[in-house]
Formats: sequence, C-alpha cells, structure tokens
Amino acid sequence: MHQDVEKILVTEEEITERCKELGRQITQDYTGKKAPILVSILKGAAPFMTEISKRIDLDVEMEFMCVSSYAGTGSTGNIKIIMDLQRDIAGENILLIEDIVDTGITLSKVKKMLLDRGANEVKIVTMLDKKERRVTEIHADYVAFNVPNEFVIGFGLDYNQKYRNLPFIGVLKEECYK
Ligand code: IMP
Repeated sequence: MHQDVEKILVTEEEITERCKELGRQITQDYTGKKAPILVSILKGAAPFMTEISKRIDLDVEMEFMCVSSYAGTGSTGNIKIIMDLQRDIAGENILLIEDIVDTGITLSKVKKMLLDRGANEVKIVTMLDKKERRVTEIHADYVAFNVPNEFVIGFGLDYNQKYRNLPFIGVLKEECYK
C-alpha cells in the first residue's frame, strides 16, 4: 500500500466485479433503445470509463470532455470547459461517466449543458457517490460504490494530480493535505 494512504476502501477486484454487474444492468436497460454515447469526464473518470465500457455489450461510442471545477480539496462551484466533445449530441442518449459525485455541482452543470445541446436523455454513471456532501438535487442513475465523507484517491481520483494511478480506492492521510 502507498505510504500516503490511510486505508483502502475498495479493492481493484471489487471494482472489476462491480463494473461487470453495472455493465450487465446498463446493457439490459438499453437493449431495444438507441445505443448510448459514453461521455467521460477527464481526467478522473478515465480508468472507470475503461473498466466499465468493456462490460457494456452494446454498440456504444466513446467521447471525452475535460472540465475543471476543483482546486485542492475544495470545490469552486464554477466549471470551465477545457476540452469539448468532438461530435454533435442532439437526439442522442448519453451516459455521463464520472469518477465521484461529491457536491454534485459539476455534474448538474454538465448534464444541463448536454440537455441544452439537444441530447434526448442524459443518465449518470458514477464510480463513487459521496451523498453526505451533496448541495444540488442531482441523482446518479448507476452508482458503483457509496463512500463516506472522506477525501479519497486512486483509480483516477487525485489530490493535486497525484495518486490517479493507484489500482484501488483509498482514503488520503490527513497530514498529506492539512
Ligand atoms: P462536485 O462538483 O463537488 O460533485 O465534484 C466533482 C469532482 O470533484 C470530481 O469529479 C472529482 O474530480 C473531485 N472530487 C470530489 N471529491 C473528491 C475526493 O474525495 N477525492 C478526489 N477528488 C474529488
């Protein structure tokens, strides 16, 4: 285990297993519907996108978007598009793939933006849900794991751009950010 990790919350094996379950569920839910476009929010959701997309047995397309909304461990409440989608999404079913829903500000803004562009439907798939911190009404349609109100890292999640490559989800030691 990495020296900055207080404890492991979710192991790599648990992530793989949960992605298989969620992938099966999504496949079932979209069978007979127009196949969704998977839109992943960089950078944090990239490992989860890779893992879950392999488990969705539909003719999906993959798109990436990069928005910034966070500095250190506090949310700014503002989002800026750093990299946009490469295609028009009017009339499409979108599965928005996110690493974590914390306050919910990022996703509610991105979801609204995609609906404003004419998406038929926008559903949210998140690796982690930190419900205690929610300040918006946003609802995640598919949640891999619920996590307590602690600062988590790994499997895409960072603290100041570090720890994204850890293969598990862990709690960052307080001394690393205090
Ligand atoms: P929200 O807008 O507050 O829901 O924040 C969403 C973004 O904040 C996520 O996509 C993460 O990049 C970041 N974030 C929120 N909580 C954590 C955490 O515990 N660890 C790492 N990043 C986090």
